[in-house]
Amino acid sequence: MAETTTMDKLVSLCKRRGFIFQSSEIYGGLTGAWDYGPLGVQLKNNIRDFWWKEMTQMHDNIVGLDASILMHPKVWEASGHVSNFTDPMVDCRQCKSRFRTDQIELDKPCPVCGTAGSFTEPRNFNLMFSTHMGAVHDDSSVVYLRPETAQGIYVDFKNVVQSSRVKIPFGIAQVGKSFRNEITTKNFIFRSCEFEQMEMQYFVEPGTDEQWFSYWRDQRMAFYHKMGIRADHLRWHRHGEDELAFYAKVAYDIQFLFPMGWQELEGVHNRTDYDLTQHQQFSGKDLTYLDQEQKNRYVPYVVETSAGLTRNVLMVLSDAYDEETLPEGDTRTVLHFHPSLAPVMVAVLPLVKKDGIGTYAEQLEKNLREEFSTFYDQSGAIGRRYRRMDEIGTPYCITVDYQSLEDQTVTLRFRDSMQQIRVPVAELVQRIRQETKTYTRA
Ligand code: GAP
Repeated sequence: MAETTTMDKLVSLCKRRGFIFQSSEIYGGLTGAWDYGPLGVQLKNNIRDFWWKEMTQMHDNIVGLDASILMHPKVWEASGHVSNFTDPMVDCRQCKSRFRTDQIELDKPCPVCGTAGSFTEPRNFNLMFSTHMGAVHDDSSVVYLRPETAQGIYVDFKNVVQSSRVKIPFGIAQVGKSFRNEITTKNFIFRSCEFEQMEMQYFVEPGTDEQWFSYWRDQRMAFYHKMGIRADHLRWHRHGEDELAFYAKVAYDIQFLFPMGWQELEGVHNRTDYDLTQHQQFSGKDLTYLDQEQKNRYVPYVVETSAGLTRNVLMVLSDAYDEETLPEGDTRTVLHFHPSLAPVMVAVLPLVKKDGIGTYAEQLEKNLREEFSTFYDQSGAIGRRYRRMDEIGTPYCITVDYQSLEDQTVTLRFRDSMQQIRVPVAELVQRIRQETKTYTRA
């Protein structure tokens, strides 16, 4: 992230280049909801896939799940969200603005209308969105939009154990939408009402939870390093007693240095046997686990790793953004994405369209589609085309010229160094794969 990275610049780049738009913009927008445009959805999917591979493919004892967003309302009574998932709020009696008590000074005038002494007494405000299922709109038909994906995993714990032959310790991973009625939604997509989470619940034998907690803390920080995020922009924050969520015994956040300062990116929580015990009580179903070898039956403890996918998108964009002054005095805006995350990995650019060069380049781009996400661009001066690709974070540009027609070689340009090398077309795929595998950001 450059010193010059500001949220305004990111928001503007995201809109200009089709990463992220405000929801319902033509109607004046909807606060707390965002649309991911052509490049944004690809970036988000790439981050999701990177996480999914890391958690499921790279661990032989973690399986996947995709639970529904709408669940039986009892789930949220059992989980404690109906009674505890609240923020204390005050309203300004004058202008009716609502604030979280930890985000304003209650002895000062209202920050919106300036009226002194206008705040109501703090009241707990539940963050869950509710709606009605079925034709009747009364208390019996209330359902909630899930505020975390984790509960789907707990509720399906027994199904997974019985169907997948998993043995403790094992994990269940899930990616999906969550919803929270957040009152303060500033800072772009950082805190929104509709967002996506990437969560993994790791079920362990009681007494081994602290050891696994420490293991997962190491794994999760290593993940962000692997993703190419600068190490000095990541740090740990341990929750104090006053910060702990109602379900957690110990919690650490991985924080990232966002343009507005250090903020939470992911939480690693020791949730003990809290959730499974609650669901056992509320459902009346046995959620214990039988350890066949030790002939031992218990309610497992859970170590949870809980990352925001959409918040990861903001982190990746913030960390990648740079404005560089080039030797000729020009400046360029560049996104230094890790190549595996870049929405466009390879751009194919004919130096000129005529004399068969355009046709050759078009065919080359088609051939590369099987391997990489590609983009073909033949319009404008080559320097401007490179800048456009830098600005969306394309790590490799291939330029086709007259020599290509003679000797089947092309130039391969690297986004970060802007260095260009001549590569035989036959070796391109292998070379790009190798460069991606060994990529480190300068
Ligand atoms: N299951 C545990 C859980 O949900 P959390 O700390 O409330 O824990 C985990 O949320 C992660 O989800 C956060 O670290 C953040 O990345 C993301 N997240 C939470 N609320 C969010 C919101 N309103 N908008 C965007 N991301 C959010």
